[in-house]
Amino acid sequence: MGLMGSGIAQVCAQAGFPTAIVEVDQKLLDRGLGMIHKNLGRLQEKGTLTAAQRETAEGLLKPSTELAAFANCDIVIEAIVENLAKKREVYALLDVEVQANAIFASNTSSLSITEMMTATSRAARFIGMHFFNPVPVMKLVEVVRTIATDAEVFETAMAFAAKLGKTAVRTSDRGGFIVNRLLVPYMLDAIRAFEEGAGSITDIDNGMKLGCGHPMGPFTLLDFVGLDTTYYIAGIMFEEFHEKRFAAPPLLKRLVMAGWYGRKSGRGFYDYSDAAAASSGSALDSRAPRPLDGLLR
Ligand code: 3HC
Repeated sequence: MGLMGSGIAQVCAQAGFPTAIVEVDQKLLDRGLGMIHKNLGRLQEKGTLTAAQRETAEGLLKPSTELAAFANCDIVIEAIVENLAKKREVYALLDVEVQANAIFASNTSSLSITEMMTATSRAARFIGMHFFNPVPVMKLVEVVRTIATDAEVFETAMAFAAKLGKTAVRTSDRGGFIVNRLLVPYMLDAIRAFEEGAGSITDIDNGMKLGCGHPMGPFTLLDFVGLDTTYYIAGIMFEEFHEKRFAAPPLLKRLVMAGWYGRKSGRGFYDYSDAAAASSGSALDSRAPRPLDGLLR
C-alpha cells in the first residue's frame, strides 16, 4: 500500500465501504495507515470532515499483512509495484484466497490488464481501475475493459467509482488507456522543447500553466509523477505502439540513470533541497523549488 494504495483505501473508507487493506509487512502497513490518518486528520482540521465522520472512516479500515483478509470482499483493487511478473504472482494467490464472485481491479497505469487476468480463473470479472495522484483530490477513474470482461462487471465498476465520488470514464485495454496516451507524449514533448531551446524550464512551465490553465506546468508535473515512473510508462507505451512520440528523450533517460527522480528524490527538473518545501505535501509550495536549467550543459 504505497501512495496510490493508501489514497484508494482512504476514499473507499470515506465513502462508507468496509475496506480491507493488505501490505507485505507491518512496517509498510503502518506507513500507509499513517498517510491515511494524516490525510483524514487534515480534512477534519479544515472542517471537510466532522470528528464522527473521521472516526467512522477510520473504523472501516481493516489492515492486515495476509491476502486472506480479502477473502469475502466484493472488489479487490490492486496497487502494488508496476511489475507484471509480481502482479501475476499476487493475482494467482488472490484467485485462491478470494471468493469466486469478487471483481479484481488493477490500478496499473500502463501494464496490460489482459496479461494480468490470465494469471486467474476469472477473466470475465477482471478490469482496470486507474486512479490519479493524489487520489483523494483527483476526480477521475479510468475503468478499463478487456475483450473478456463481462458487461455487468464493467457497469458494477463504473457504479462503484461513482460511489467513491469519482467521475469514471470508459476505456479499453490499450497502452496508456486515455489519459496517459495523451499525457505522456505531452510531457515527453515538453522535454524535447526544452532540449531544442524553445524556452527555459520555468518559461515552459509558466507557458502551459498560465497560457492553458493547467494546475502545473509539464516539468512540475513530471517531477510530481516521478521521472522514473514516466520513463517506465513511456517505455511500455513505446513497446506497444512503436511510435516516436512515446520514446523517452535522452535527457529524461540521463536524469533517471542519475537517480534524479523528481520530488521524491529531492531533485529532477527542479531542485527541492529546501526540505520543508519538498515535504510540505503541497504541490506548489511558495518556497519555490529551483529550476535546473543547467541540465543542458
Ligand atoms: N493528498 C491529499 N490531498 C492533497 C494532496 C495530497 N497529496 N495534495 C494536495 N491536496 C489537497 C490540499 O489539501 C488542498 O485541499 P483543499 O482545497 O481542500 O484545501 C487541495 O488538494 C489543493 O492543494 P494545494 O492548495 O496544496 O495545491 P494546489 O492547488 O496546487 O493543488 C494539486 C495540488 C491537486 C496536486 C494540483 O496541483 C493538481 O491538480 N496538479 C496536477 C496533478 C495531476 O495532474 N495528477 C495526475 C498525475 S498523472 C497520474 O497520476 C497518472 C499516472 O498513471 C502517471
